[in-house]
Amino acid sequence: MELTPSQREQFERDGYLFFPSLFSAAEMKVLRDEVPRIYAEQRPEIVREKDGVTPRTSFAAHTYSDVFAKLARHPRMVQPVQQVFGEPVYMHQFKINGKQAFDGDVWQWHQDFGTWHRDDAMPEARAMNVSIFLDEVNEFNGPLWFIPGSHREGVVEAGHDTRTTSYPLWTLDNSKVRELIERGGIVAPKGPPGSMLMFHSCLVHGSPPNMSPWDRVIVYLSLCTVSNHIRQFKRPEWIAHRDFTPIQMLGDDCLLREDVRGLPWPTGRQAA
Ligand code: SIN
Ligand code: MN
Repeated sequence: MELTPSQREQFERDGYLFFPSLFSAAEMKVLRDEVPRIYAEQRPEIVREKDGVTPRTSFAAHTYSDVFAKLARHPRMVQPVQQVFGEPVYMHQFKINGKQAFDGDVWQWHQDFGTWHRDDAMPEARAMNVSIFLDEVNEFNGPLWFIPGSHREGVVEAGHDTRTTSYPLWTLDNSKVRELIERGGIVAPKGPPGSMLMFHSCLVHGSPPNMSPWDRVIVYLSLCTVSNHIRQFKRPEWIAHRDFTPIQMLGDDCLLREDVRGLPWPTGRQAA
């Protein structure tokens, strides 16, 4: 999938692009059906909410689930990112964020590159987030909130919040968030399952808790240019990957084909 010149301009200006219903209902069913199986596993990659039970964020499913491995190599997600950077990309992080009905907790205001830079020594913001909605995202079930244009600030000062939720995060000061919102406002892209978001790694974002009776499962691929790979290996390999092999894309119909496998995920060179 190629971005048009006007989409590229929009991305430069706002820091994100939204593609409603990019994947079909049949493709989403393949992925959605796999989620309960993943959540039933007891593995360190699945981080639970503070209650110790509700799945919050599940890392690296593309390394052990065939269908998520196919998604990780899907051209509709990978190709536009390579186009923006003009370089092959590797998988820096892969996560399924649950935001489960009633129990899905807040994600405080943050920038992803802030974390990748501070914790993983990723040199530059040459990495991109791509999200796929597995469920409908509406105004009630904890949609992502973006501050348009905030990516142009570069890395903003942040504090390490280890208390608010079960997952530590570098979060922004309220005063800085207020200033950015006065300038850019807030948007909350909403849409049916199969919708895709692409957003800049410096875009300031967060999401409110899910008080609704509807789950809000979103998958995130964080794709980093190969030359910009992380330099520090402080976090577990399943949170910040150390396999810098360029992603080999599969065919556009891969999710619906039984004869195409996403696994084994190529391990390539493991950094020392
Ligand atoms: C994130 O920003 O990493 C997660 C936000 C969300 O899933 O709502
Ligand atoms: Mn984030």
